Amino acid sequence: MGAVGVVAHAAAVQPHRVTSMFAVYAESTSTDEPLSGLVVGERPEPEAPDDWVSVQVRACSINHHDYWSLQGVGLSDDRLPMILGCDAAGTTEDGSEVVVHAVISDPSWSGDETLDPRRSLLSERWQGTFAERVRVPARNVVPKPEGMSFEQAACLPTAWLTAYRMLFTQAGLRPGDSVLVQGAGGGVATAVIVLARAAGLRVFATSRDEKKRARAEEIGAHEAFETGARLPQRVDAVMETVGAATWSHSIKSLRPGGTLVLAGATSGFTPEQGELNRIFFLQLRVHGSTMGTREELRALADFLALTGSAPLIDRTLPMEQAREGLVAIAEGDVFGKIVLTR
Ligand SMILES: NC(=O)c1ccc[n+]([C@@H]2O[C@H](COP(=O)([O-])OP(=O)(O)OC[C@H]3O[C@@H](n4cnc5c(N)ncnc54)[C@H](OP(=O)(O)O)[C@@H]3O)[C@@H](O)[C@H]2O)c1
Repeated sequence: MGAVGVVAHAAAVQPHRVTSMFAVYAESTSTDEPLSGLVVGERPEPEAPDDWVSVQVRACSINHHDYWSLQGVGLSDDRLPMILGCDAAGTTEDGSEVVVHAVISDPSWSGDETLDPRRSLLSERWQGTFAERVRVPARNVVPKPEGMSFEQAACLPTAWLTAYRMLFTQAGLRPGDSVLVQGAGGGVATAVIVLARAAGLRVFATSRDEKKRARAEEIGAHEAFETGARLPQRVDAVMETVGAATWSHSIKSLRPGGTLVLAGATSGFTPEQGELNRIFFLQLRVHGSTMGTREELRALADFLALTGSAPLIDRTLPMEQAREGLVAIAEGDVFGKIVLTR
């Protein structure tokens, strides 16, 4: 099924138009100096299969993924130059206002797109969203939620969708349950805090930074603690995106039978203590999670509309200043999402 799909994909790819457009892209990658390969300039209109749609990007948002790409994580040299960016909100050629779903699955795939072994995220195989236009399969656009700005909508496809799936699909949390969110300042973490509070959960958060702890309480955490601090109670679930630095604390904070959902490891992949004994003795569940499905993206939009919640934006910059936003992400100088506009 998949192999046939891939051949069909490749055969249908035609250069769309030989025009150039504004784009922010990786010309090269570097582990030590990721930003040295970043170019703010012009790229040709992206090539894509004929039946894909073109979206005029009105806003996009930065994810840690874009920084990983500049480091060469998930982006090999043969795919360069590559326009960065997973997230976008904009308009299609018929004027519809849309949000772009960044998980590109094989045309023959049905069901949960995140489980397609051939799936990629925008800017891994297909050109990304930090540009005037992005091309995606027609099924990868969903209506922009009414009343939501393009800037807010551009936060949904990666960080907010990931947070939604972590909480409600993977951990299966319900009103009254308790959750710990590690690394309160991140795009995913702030989304988890807002969504969890809106869903009636008891929310604890940690951050290394006192100001971020205060902000975490303002946006919905019942209590925020220093990284590694003992919590007032063991929790039903932990939402983990920090990785090595908080892994041990995450495991120790769970009640017997609790669930750790792991969606990232900003601080590294190798925790000092794996806590394997606790994982089996306390019958903990460790659940990996990546992005979310189109249906979850629609459900997230509905959830936000029904609860009156909205994506939390740290700052909005013109797309030309993408470098400034990426530096902030690299330095952890962020609370919420950094949005780029055209
Ligand atoms: N699986 C997926 O589909 C998916 C989707 C989105 C993101 N991700 C991944 O999830 C991670 C989070 O991404 P993000 O964009 O939300 O945020 P991020 O910019 O990577 O930051 C996350 C938070 O990590 C904390 N942190 C970083 N280094 C730390 C350290 N050494 N010790 C303790 N805390 C540390 C910081 O919290 P404080 O400063 O508050 O302490 C920071 O706010 C990334 O690794 C990203 O690649 C995965």
